[in-house]
Amino acid sequence: MAAGSAQVGPTAVDVIRTKRDGGRLSDAQIDWIVAAYTRGDVADEQMSALAMAILLRGMTAGEIARWTAAMIASGERLDLSGVARPTVDKHSTGGVGDKITLPLTPLVAACGAAVPQLSGRGLGHTGGTLDKLEAIPGWRAQLTNAQFVRQLRDIGAVVCAAGDHLAPADRKLYALRDVTATVEAIPLIASSIMSKKIAEGTEALVLDVKVGTGAFMSSVADARELARTMVDLGAAHDVRTVALLTDMSTPLGRTVGNAIEVAEAVEVLAGGGPADVVELTLTLAREMLDAAGLTDADPAAALRDGRAMDSWRAMIRAQGGDPSAPLPVAAEAELIRADRDGYVAAVDARTVGVAAWRLGAGRARKEDPVSAAAGVILHRRPGDAVRAGDPLLELRADTPDRIADVLPGIADAVRLTDQPPPDGDLVIERIG
Ligand code: URA
Repeated sequence: MAAGSAQVGPTAVDVIRTKRDGGRLSDAQIDWIVAAYTRGDVADEQMSALAMAILLRGMTAGEIARWTAAMIASGERLDLSGVARPTVDKHSTGGVGDKITLPLTPLVAACGAAVPQLSGRGLGHTGGTLDKLEAIPGWRAQLTNAQFVRQLRDIGAVVCAAGDHLAPADRKLYALRDVTATVEAIPLIASSIMSKKIAEGTEALVLDVKVGTGAFMSSVADARELARTMVDLGAAHDVRTVALLTDMSTPLGRTVGNAIEVAEAVEVLAGGGPADVVELTLTLAREMLDAAGLTDADPAAALRDGRAMDSWRAMIRAQGGDPSAPLPVAAEAELIRADRDGYVAAVDARTVGVAAWRLGAGRARKEDPVSAAAGVILHRRPGDAVRAGDPLLELRADTPDRIADVLPGIADAVRLTDQPPPDGDLVIERIG
C-alpha cells in the first residue's frame, strides 16, 4: 500500500513513526503490520525501517508477546494431539560444532517422549542441522505434515525442514533482517524463534542459548535477556519452557563440519564421544524429560544400553537414510601443528566456525550448496598439553584451493600458554 494513501486503521508510516519516536505499538498496529507484510501489502523498505526502529528503541514484553502471536497467526499451527507421548523440543540459538540435536533427539525419544524437531539450514559460520543430516546417503529433510506426525507417533523422533506454511511472516522478515543489519534485535530474535516453535505444536521446550565468540550473543547479559524473553513467551502460549545459557567460546566436541559431526554424534550414541558433547547431550536430555513430565527416565542408561542408537537408526531409516552407509570423506586434508610446547588455553569458536564455512561446510547465500565432507577437526582441546610439532587442527576440503584460502591466520585460532588454563563451565546458567 502506498505510503500516505487514505485508509481507515493503521498505516505503515504511522506504525514506523510510533516506534521511531519510542512509543508503544498497539495490538491493532502489530496485528495489522505483520499480516499486511506477509500478504505483500507493506513494502520491504517500510518493514526494514520498522525493524531498525525496533532494534534501536526496543519493545515492551506486551508488544513482544503480541508480535509473536501475530507471527504464529500468519501461518498454520500443527496439531500434535494425535501423538500419545508427551512432546518436547529443543532449540539452540546456534553454535560452532553444535551437533547436539543429532544424538539428543533419538535419545529423548528412546526415553519415552516425542521430539518434533523442525530445523533449518546453516547460514554463515554456524552450521545447520539439516546440512549435517544430509551428509547421510539417502536421508531427506522434506516431510509432509502427515509424514511428520506419523513418524512422531511411530518412532518419537523427527528432524526435518519446517514447511512454508509455518510462521511465513518470520521467513520473510528474517530474510529482510539478514540484509538490513537488524538480526541482533532481541525482541525480533525471541519472537522469530518462539513463533516457529509454538506453531510447531510442541508442549514443552528447552532452549540452549549460546554465549561466546562463536554465538551471536557474546555477552552473558544479552543472552540472559534473550533467554528470559523466550521463556516468558513460552509461558504466555502454554508451552513449558526453560533455557540454559551454555558456553560457545570453544567449538563443541572435536569436529566442525557436516559428515564429521554426524560421525561424532554416532560415537556419542554408541556410548563414547567427546566429554563436552556427552555432558551437554545428557544435561539437555534431562531438562527435556523433566519438562515432558518423564522424571524417572534415565538418559545415561539409554545411551549405554543401545536404546538411543536403535532410535537413531529408526529415525534415519524413516527418512530414507542408510545409517550403516559410509559417510563422505574429503579429498584434501592439512594438519596445523603446534610451534612450541605448552597447553591449549583456547580454541576460538568463531575463527574455527568461519574456517569450516570457507572450507565448504557452510554457505554464504541460502541457495548455495554445501560440502558434506569439508570441515575442521580439533586434535587438541583447551586444557590439553602439547609438544612442538603435535597436530592441533586438521582442515578438510574437497579441493586444495579451499585449504589454501583458510591457511593464513588459522593457527591463531589456537592459543598456547605455559600453564594449563582454569576449567570453564559448559552450562553457565539456567532460566526457567
Ligand atoms: N534464529 C532464528 O530462527 N531467528 C532469529 O531471529 C535468529 C536466529
